[in-house]
Amino acid sequence: MEIRKTISDLRQSLVWHQQQRRTVGLVPTMGNLHRGHMALIKAAVVDCDIVVTSIFINPLQFGPDEDLASYPHTPDADIDLLQESGCHYLFMPSATEMYGKKTTDANSIVKVPCLSELYCGASRPGHFNGVTTVVSKLFNIVHPDIAYFGLKDYQQFVIIRQLVEDLCFPIKLVGIETVREASGLAMSSRNNYMDSQQRCIAASLYRTLRFMADQVKQGLYSISDLENQGLEQIMSIGMKPDYLSICNARTLEPANDETKDFAILAAAFIGSTRLIDNVRFQLDRSGEMLSKSGKSS
Ligand code: PAJ
Repeated sequence: MEIRKTISDLRQSLVWHQQQRRTVGLVPTMGNLHRGHMALIKAAVVDCDIVVTSIFINPLQFGPDEDLASYPHTPDADIDLLQESGCHYLFMPSATEMYGKKTTDANSIVKVPCLSELYCGASRPGHFNGVTTVVSKLFNIVHPDIAYFGLKDYQQFVIIRQLVEDLCFPIKLVGIETVREASGLAMSSRNNYMDSQQRCIAASLYRTLRFMADQVKQGLYSISDLENQGLEQIMSIGMKPDYLSICNARTLEPANDETKDFAILAAAFIGSTRLIDNVRFQLDRSGEMLSKSGKSS
């Protein structure tokens, strides 16, 4: 694997492969790589001739009170993992390389409205503008044929899908299923902030989401009753919910009686660590309808 730190060096390396019509896969990350990231890279290695992984802790997607300064930065361990993975190029630019010397307020922004203001976007204003801006830049730098994103960050995936469609990026997007620890806890770089007891509590977030999905499938409760039950469960195990929503997996709008593709999205704090998770499932609506008034006993 070769490491490139500048945009021009990476472009120079890729242009030859692209002239040979080799398929290029891109896996954008912020580093501190774990099995979740490696699943994306593994898929890219299977599909593509050339795999580029980027590691860039993108300042633009962190709010002023967020964990930019403490976000785990483990380049040596990441490089060791990538050497074994079949990845061909690691792109590791500096913030100045990506954004120049201007303050971030003076840079151009790529914004996907509406979707970016829901859920995580409501709690983290500007976060998704930072994501869509850096992802657009990476797309323009690498010109990948295929780009890989995790479905753990489901709202991010839906927003990037919209971005690709709206701006006509000639890129196929692949979403990779969430990789979890044995406890069910979704792997995340932010799991490092928790001690073992907190990790144990955090694992119940996924149990709550699965419980809610089962209830929706059985049509036992109304959506709002279920959301309230889920919130109570999350609080009773010692987490502070940020949001919990049963929504349409395609539009991210609140689910209704016609919804067939569901996503249940959640964000919750354990101590000061903010975790997100989701489950997605489909319902065969040919026979019955979900009761809006609720059948809760
Ligand atoms: P980061 O959190 O490092 O995640 C990089 C990619 O890995 C994302 O697509 C994310 O969804 C995926 N990922 C993380 N944990 C995962 C898990 N447990 N299972 C499967 N995939 C997982 O997401 C970002 O960085 C940034 O917002 C980025 C897209 C790189 C833009 O800066």
